[in-house]
Amino acid sequence: MAKLLSVNVGLPQDVAWQGRTVRTGVWKRAVTGPRMVRRLNVEGDGQGDLAGHGGEYRAVLVYQLDSYRHWQEHLRRDDFAYGQFGENFTVDGLPDDEVRIGDRFRVGEALFEVTQPRVTCYRVGLRMGEPRMAALLVAHRRPGFYLRVLAEGRVEAGQEIVKIASGPEEMTVADIDALLYLPGHPRDDLVRALRVPALSPGWKASLRALLDQAGASGAPAGNAGLAPAAPPPAWTGFRPLRVRRIDVESAGVFSVTLTAPDGTPVPAALPGQFLTVRLRPGGGPALVRSYSLSGPPDRGEYRLSIKREPHGAASGWLRARLRAGDLLDCAAPRGAFTLTAGDGPVLLISAGIGVTPVLAMLHALAAGRSTREVWWVYGARDGAEHPFAEESRTLLGRLPNAHRHVSYSRPAPGDRQGRDYDAAGRISAGLLRDLGVPHGADAYVCGPPALMRDLPGALAASELAPSHVHTEVFGAGPALTPGVAAASQRPVHPPTGPPGDGPVVSFARSGLTVSWSSAYASLLELAEACDVPTRWSCRTGVCHSCESGLLAGSVAYSPEPLDAPAEGDTLICCSRPREDVVLDL
Ligand SMILES: Cc1cc2nc3c(=O)[nH]c(=O)nc-3n(C[C@H](O)[C@H](O)[C@H](O)COP(=O)(O)OP(=O)(O)OC[C@H]3O[C@@H](n4cnc5c(N)ncnc54)[C@H](O)[C@@H]3O)c2cc1C
Ligand code: FES
Repeated sequence: MAKLLSVNVGLPQDVAWQGRTVRTGVWKRAVTGPRMVRRLNVEGDGQGDLAGHGGEYRAVLVYQLDSYRHWQEHLRRDDFAYGQFGENFTVDGLPDDEVRIGDRFRVGEALFEVTQPRVTCYRVGLRMGEPRMAALLVAHRRPGFYLRVLAEGRVEAGQEIVKIASGPEEMTVADIDALLYLPGHPRDDLVRALRVPALSPGWKASLRALLDQAGASGAPAGNAGLAPAAPPPAWTGFRPLRVRRIDVESAGVFSVTLTAPDGTPVPAALPGQFLTVRLRPGGGPALVRSYSLSGPPDRGEYRLSIKREPHGAASGWLRARLRAGDLLDCAAPRGAFTLTAGDGPVLLISAGIGVTPVLAMLHALAAGRSTREVWWVYGARDGAEHPFAEESRTLLGRLPNAHRHVSYSRPAPGDRQGRDYDAAGRISAGLLRDLGVPHGADAYVCGPPALMRDLPGALAASELAPSHVHTEVFGAGPALTPGVAAASQRPVHPPTGPPGDGPVVSFARSGLTVSWSSAYASLLELAEACDVPTRWSCRTGVCHSCESGLLAGSVAYSPEPLDAPAEGDTLICCSRPREDVVLDL
């Protein structure tokens, strides 16, 4: 009979870590006497970061005495106390390779159900003083697991743990953890796991993404359960493409059409993808900039449409100096902001130069004579700054089920409402509601910061499911730094201290190029030293939160990731440059 050895609780506290402050509830301490367990927490317990921890499906974390013994031996340590692994219940019995997702247990007055393995997160390593801990827990198949509280009640150390029902499908905690994080992801096991009703919605979504990936033809590499999957880039690094023509699209926007120098068709891209250009204006330092493809995705050539920014280094040079016949160094099209197949309605929402990726999607829908309901919602300043007005109108005319709405924020005297634009104003969630855009649609949103700040969240909170709201940001993406207290956001900058003497590292979205130094343990640490926005969770090669495009160059891993990232990507938390690299960060 399994036994509850210790009940451990801890409220979030601020902890100093690598010059930053982390708010975490990972420090749990054993308590004596009966404790009430409620739907969201053990009495006196809390989590610092509710996005990653806590909630109904992650109310109580369980870890086993046998795993304590394993780690004492493996890490040669004898300083562990109950709660050491951030767990609420330290138990004797209930091993990860026997407990199934969906098993139900009674402890004292309360009733519990097993929902998922532990979340892989750097904070257990922080508590343990062992940064590799998140990866070790997965690699050694000893993650521990979460319980949902089916009936609230008091529990107390020393009580027996009585199993009252078995989860279906014989999916143990260790099995399901390996299914997501370790290589393989057998299709049958994914199907079986998805049949377990008790599995938490977050894990179901990850396993469903893996299942879709397994079923896709020309399946993209990488782990779709952990990071967006896209097909591998058509070539590595940069190759020269020839400028076939340059066209003016509006007062501020011009298009550049690129072909292979030998005239052969360039590989097809997916509608919505971007390519990256490397320029050396006047033979000076390289400028690396990305541009979404705006033309039909499979016409054997690529069209970029570029807004000339006031004082913009690359856009200014390209507009002034680029000529038909010139060669441009280009990395292959990539990106996961792509039109997904389906029959449901599609909302293509953009403003300003954000039109480019959604225009490629409109081309793809029109070329396929799609019968889907398509909404084209576009915002421009006025008629002079309205690129692709005719092109988008023609494409929409080929679709049987198309709706169009164009807003001008400052219509010029010559602009006519009803002919050039439909309403004065900006694109907003309120406007979309008034237009009556359909529920259950897939929305693709791209535009200036003001649009991207509010609209996607508003859409996800009202008409559409969050997973159906897709966004592209024309710059550095939002950071994900779980639990780290917000510091004032500084613009990107070279690291302080003497410059490194290693390979050159370019952060393409941030427009920063610096030299590598062995003072950093990983590309993630270098990015952090430059205030380049980054996304991460485990910091040791398990969770893929830090997966980023590797546009050029190669890296060495330490530690080796548990499951490989997609081809053309790297996990920056555990990699260092082997040569000059360009990162999509
Ligand atoms: C995935 C992705 C897709 C993209 N797709 C497109 C696309 O389809 N079309 C497109 O046009 N862009 C696109 N971009 C943006 C593009 O990559 C560039 O960032 C953008 O064109 C600006 O580059 P720049 O060198 O011209 O400007 P930068 O020199 O990088 O300047 C950036 C901004 O700072 C301002 N600035 C610069 N110097 C000064 C100064 N001295 N004083 C005041 N302000 C200053 C500029 O006005 C500009 O607004 C995309 C970006 C990404 C990441
Ligand atoms: S942060 Fe988890 S793999 Fe890099």
